[in-house]
Amino acid sequence: MFEFYHMMAKSAIPELRCFARLRPHKSEGSVRTQVCIIGAGPSGLLLSQLLHLKGIESIVLERQTQEHILGRIRAGVLERGFVSLMHEAGAGARLDKEGFVHDGTMIAYDNRSFRIDFAKHAKSSVTIYGQTEVTRDLFAARAAAGGKILFSVEDVTIEDATSATPSVSFAQAGQGQRIDCDYVVGCDGFHGVSRRTIPAEVRTEFEKVYPFGWLGVLSQTPPVSTELIYASSARGFALCSMRNENLSRYYLQCPIDQNPDDWTDDAFWDELKRRIPEAASDQLITGASIEKSIAPLRSYMTEPMRWGNLFLCGDAAHIVPPTGAKGLNTAASDIHYLYHAMVQFYHDGDAGGLEAYSQKALARVWKTERFSWWMTSLLHRFPDQSAFDHRMQQAELAFLESSSGAQKVLAENYVGLPY
Ligand code: APR
Ligand code: PHB
Repeated sequence: MFEFYHMMAKSAIPELRCFARLRPHKSEGSVRTQVCIIGAGPSGLLLSQLLHLKGIESIVLERQTQEHILGRIRAGVLERGFVSLMHEAGAGARLDKEGFVHDGTMIAYDNRSFRIDFAKHAKSSVTIYGQTEVTRDLFAARAAAGGKILFSVEDVTIEDATSATPSVSFAQAGQGQRIDCDYVVGCDGFHGVSRRTIPAEVRTEFEKVYPFGWLGVLSQTPPVSTELIYASSARGFALCSMRNENLSRYYLQCPIDQNPDDWTDDAFWDELKRRIPEAASDQLITGASIEKSIAPLRSYMTEPMRWGNLFLCGDAAHIVPPTGAKGLNTAASDIHYLYHAMVQFYHDGDAGGLEAYSQKALARVWKTERFSWWMTSLLHRFPDQSAFDHRMQQAELAFLESSSGAQKVLAENYVGLPY
């Protein structure tokens, strides 16, 4: 079946058919696939699974081991569009069973809180389900389908990306290998090789680094609230989130040069209590932390997201600060566009979707960048902030509390803009 689609695609595009004839013979250590995906994070796994279900063959190359990837703790708020993609990938069953559907979120400031009602303002909801579990489900789906993922690969190098015969070379267990393919997809995160393969003169980068980080703690305690609490306080931002009924995730804005070990569990809980409304801190159940880490905050975009037959998806192309939990969800919209574009190409011989990919993906990501930047700017204390700046934040929060229109804007963005 794979060969069938491959042949169909080649014969539909005369220039490619002609290039295909020039392709060197398979040498030892070289294999051929349709799509070579670099990175087995959520982007790479989701794309390879969706393509597989449409009969499009891929190989995923991953620098780390599967255990390492499943040890990463990331955000846990899924837009409805992402949940639909997981279902389309045949990996949504556990998410449906174990995820919590949230119809709203709490915003707190000045020792009080108000609710943004997603159901009322956006007729939608989000699902609380950890990204680690998303990744676990996608690995399981790939394994069940016999998907090819090569772990612990080194020295991944993308060659001839602007030709019709790109290839990816790498080493595994000291053995050099090469994959010949139609397309290379860079799903290899912010520090990957794919973005750097695109020459600097072709790319434009946009970046904002925030002068603080988030100290995150995971604890085996019941969540303090049934919905998330985003709290702005004079001492800095705090977030109360969760994974399940006995697993909570909390964050504190902190100086970026701090070390998680500078924070004892007691110091963390004391500070959290000072930053959230009393009504919540009175309910807070504390316990030993299972994980404690500090993450920097950054907004970053690179344009374009396509160079020849190399496509970028997810963190390889853009980063959002975590306020609003859009990292995984922006990756998902990229995958949505690229997946449909590849199906259009391999099934119908129509490269229109691939041509439009970068523009379409960027248009949505920029809007999500704006939302994440706005949430971050509204809720954090900035070291160089003047008294006037602070009053502006307070006034905006008061406006948000009282205006149904402002709440609708937040709700629409939070549940996810349409693809
Ligand atoms: N060769 C092979 N694999 C690589 C290379 C490389 N040179 N560089 C990075 N990788 C792998 C990483 O080890 C990682 O497993 O690419 C994967 C990228 O995964 P993520 O960083 O999770 O990125 P992505 O899949 O786009 O996910 C986007 O999920 O990880 C979060 O913060 C992220 O929320 C965002 C979303
Ligand atoms: C999380 O649960 O880890 C989380 C939730 C919401 C955010 C960021 C992180 O905005």
